Amino acid sequence: MASALFDRDLVAIGDLSKKDIGEVLEHASKMLSIVEQGRRVDYLENEIMATLFFEPSTRTRLSFESAMQRLGGGVIGFADAGTTSTKKGESLADTIEVVSSYADVIVIRHSTEGAAREAAEHSKIPVINAGDGVGQHPTQALLDLFTIKKEKGRLDKLRIAMVGDMKNGRTVHSLSEALSLFGNEITFIAPEELQIPDSIYGRLSREYGSAQKSESLEKARDADVIYMTRIQQERFAKPEDYKRFEHSFRIDRKFLEGANNDVIIMHPLPRVMEISPEVDKMKNSVYFKQASYGVPVRMAILDMMLTGKK
Ligand code: CP
Repeated sequence: MASALFDRDLVAIGDLSKKDIGEVLEHASKMLSIVEQGRRVDYLENEIMATLFFEPSTRTRLSFESAMQRLGGGVIGFADAGTTSTKKGESLADTIEVVSSYADVIVIRHSTEGAAREAAEHSKIPVINAGDGVGQHPTQALLDLFTIKKEKGRLDKLRIAMVGDMKNGRTVHSLSEALSLFGNEITFIAPEELQIPDSIYGRLSREYGSAQKSESLEKARDADVIYMTRIQQERFAKPEDYKRFEHSFRIDRKFLEGANNDVIIMHPLPRVMEISPEVDKMKNSVYFKQASYGVPVRMAILDMMLTGKK
């Protein structure tokens, strides 16, 4: 039987069942051994990936490109929509219609929530959402789950504190849904104005009954996993509003001395000031390792989507 992702779009984490996620993580473990051996394979030698990045990115775009190259495939695309015909007024629908005749899979990042779903509707080839505004970032959630599984040995019965900009953080929107599906206790820690949207909180509370909200970082002290996020400056209409929140939370050595000794500190990155650099060398910090898992996890997604392997 073909993999759960074969010839499908991946727009939201909710597109995947618990079993599908398990398949991706298992396949990613095989891909990790290819990466660790520094090898390239020919699994996707006849495939081309188009990366359409209408918003800035370091990790997502480069790890997708690295993943495709490790699998023997080709890469086309852009990292600055200002150099494309979007600048001349071309619609997203037309761009996707055309690019889907140049490639075998599209990876898209866009500032508008829903843009990846719109792209999928106009595409003849599978579309992967690499972040749509304040919406979703499903491949980040998968690499976050892969990291938690590696570090904690399981994906359930964990106390998770998510800290920072819960309103605008698309990584949190995707990951909280996946973690709830696996059965974890989640505490969203944010200033009231930047709390998790009611639509997400209501659903998680109703369906899984395991979510709480707080404004205090003290609530993270007993957590097994602290998932820090930056305050998303680019989502604020007025600079003065961002200024009110930019220093809301910061994890440092002193905080960790009073926290659960085995807590892992995660962050989707980029970091601004919410984790002190002194934490980087502490055993609790896993955020750079987490970023490195972007390659094997995205290799797994591409391989499963394009060949049906699992
Ligand atoms: N985590 C993440 O999406 O990073 P980039 O914005 O650098 O892709």
